[in-house]
Amino acid sequence: MKFSRMMTFIAAMVIAVAIGLTVKTLFFNHNGYGSRTIGVASIGGPFELVNHKGEIVQDSEFSGKYLLVMFGFTNCPDVCPTGLQLISEAKELLGSEVKNVQPLMITVDPERDTIEVLADYVSNFHPSVVGLTGTVDQIKAVAGAYKAYFAKGENDQNGDYFMDHSPFIYLMGPNGQYLDHFAPNTSPEAIANRIKSAITES
Ligand code: NI
Repeated sequence: MKFSRMMTFIAAMVIAVAIGLTVKTLFFNHNGYGSRTIGVASIGGPFELVNHKGEIVQDSEFSGKYLLVMFGFTNCPDVCPTGLQLISEAKELLGSEVKNVQPLMITVDPERDTIEVLADYVSNFHPSVVGLTGTVDQIKAVAGAYKAYFAKGENDQNGDYFMDHSPFIYLMGPNGQYLDHFAPNTSPEAIANRIKSAITES
């Protein structure tokens, strides 16, 4: 009886270790590709929108470039101007040596942010900034692809409303892959350095 109990115990241990190793291998392999890609690998994706010049643009047109992607709206009182200012300063810091960094500001308020409104708005920032708008469905699709939240607020007595939205600036690689994201309180130096290191690593 004792012997068979021991055998059962050993068998159970062997199974437990085998399961443990399998789990460890799965995790190890994932981590081998960089644990940061778990759960964020699906950020980004194809889109078709209209730029602030009225041209239809697809994500494929930015292939080969690093993208700084931001969601927002032109009536935003704080987060969006801060984010675009930050992007502009990072672009200045990168200077002429790093040209293939394309900032994109995608409006989550396409009803008010027409091509003309966007064109006027982006002219306040770095000349490389491209404003993008589209139909409500196109905006929902691209925001969904980037896991960017947005919601329309209540109308006030003047018919104005606020758009709640994710504040993050996404850094995407030249193949459209997600690399990083920044909060609006990041320094322009940190963003510029992160882009430089991404270029060096590639
Ligand atoms: Ni905003």
